[in-house]
Amino acid sequence: MKNQRTVDLRSDTVTLPTMAMRQAMFKAPVGDDVYGEDPTVNQLEALAAERLGKEAALLVPSGTMANLVCLLAHCDRGDEAIMGNKAHTFLFEAGSSAAVGGIHPSTVPNQPDGTLDLAAIEAAIRDPQNDHYPRSRLICLENTHNRCGGAVLTPAYMAQVRRLADRHGLAIHLDGARIFNAAAALNVEVSVLAQGADSVVFCLSKGLAAPAGSLVCGSAEFVRKARRQRKMLGGGMRQAGILAAAGIVALETMAERLSEDHVNARRLAHGLEQVPGILFDPDQVQTNIIIFELTAGAVSPVEFVEGLSTLGVKLGAIGGRRLRAVTHCDVGQEDIDYALYAIQQVLR
Ligand SMILES: Cc1ncc(COP(=O)(O)O)c(C=O)c1O
Repeated sequence: MKNQRTVDLRSDTVTLPTMAMRQAMFKAPVGDDVYGEDPTVNQLEALAAERLGKEAALLVPSGTMANLVCLLAHCDRGDEAIMGNKAHTFLFEAGSSAAVGGIHPSTVPNQPDGTLDLAAIEAAIRDPQNDHYPRSRLICLENTHNRCGGAVLTPAYMAQVRRLADRHGLAIHLDGARIFNAAAALNVEVSVLAQGADSVVFCLSKGLAAPAGSLVCGSAEFVRKARRQRKMLGGGMRQAGILAAAGIVALETMAERLSEDHVNARRLAHGLEQVPGILFDPDQVQTNIIIFELTAGAVSPVEFVEGLSTLGVKLGAIGGRRLRAVTHCDVGQEDIDYALYAIQQVLR
């Protein structure tokens, strides 16, 4: 393979808006969304609510703000939110719920399949009669689970957590940044995966390839509260229909092709399995995220990433000897084959 190409596998957030999105953005009717007067935002919010099977939805700038708005709407200061120790909300959102909302995180270990053990959740719930404790309010789940290698939570698991939450009067928040990947992997409607959750967020700017934006979905009353939190955080945008127009195209055209990314991820996984110097179980790959490890004798992760980058292949070191590759719509089958070739070169 002589012709070098650029293959960016660092994240599905690097996806570029499609031509159809750019055209829709150009033509979008817009208004002041903080007054509720942007017709394109209203259309996107209605579409998102319908897809997720919820009463209402709210457009916010990012997934991080979507999660924060939800946690703030569910919890008061000093309340406790139970979440996985590998949850995006715990690891990668700058401690926002604690810093901004005074919300106390209580972590439960994530299992390799992205779930939280039900008994461990139950053990983390506080006795509400004991004034020494913070008040348990919320259980946070993530589907697909980023740091658990894109693992998918099933409707059966969601139903179990729902029953547990109901027994204790807790709410459930679902970080569904990649919930459309989960739906594609399980071949179910996304609303089936959202069913057990009181609030669900999903991102337009990951595998769905829109330039920005995330949706908060829930009951009309919940979204009303979330709207107030969005205002407080400075996330109320004005002629946001420019962004929403791309989001509508993303929902209408990009969700249905996510399984192609999953096929490419499996192609990469099966190729990696053959490469000496890589420790990896390809059966763990369920969606578009692949986490693998370099064996002790191989190059360091920094050398690996640098070596690959000189060959035009980008992926991320995520701590220890682990690396992460993410497939998306701007990476085709030939790009995967080139990435495998480059990886073999670096590990030779
Ligand atoms: C699971 C998960 N939740 C939330 C986010 C945050 O999204 P954003 O980067 O739009 O703030 C990410 C981003 O990668 C994510 O992977």
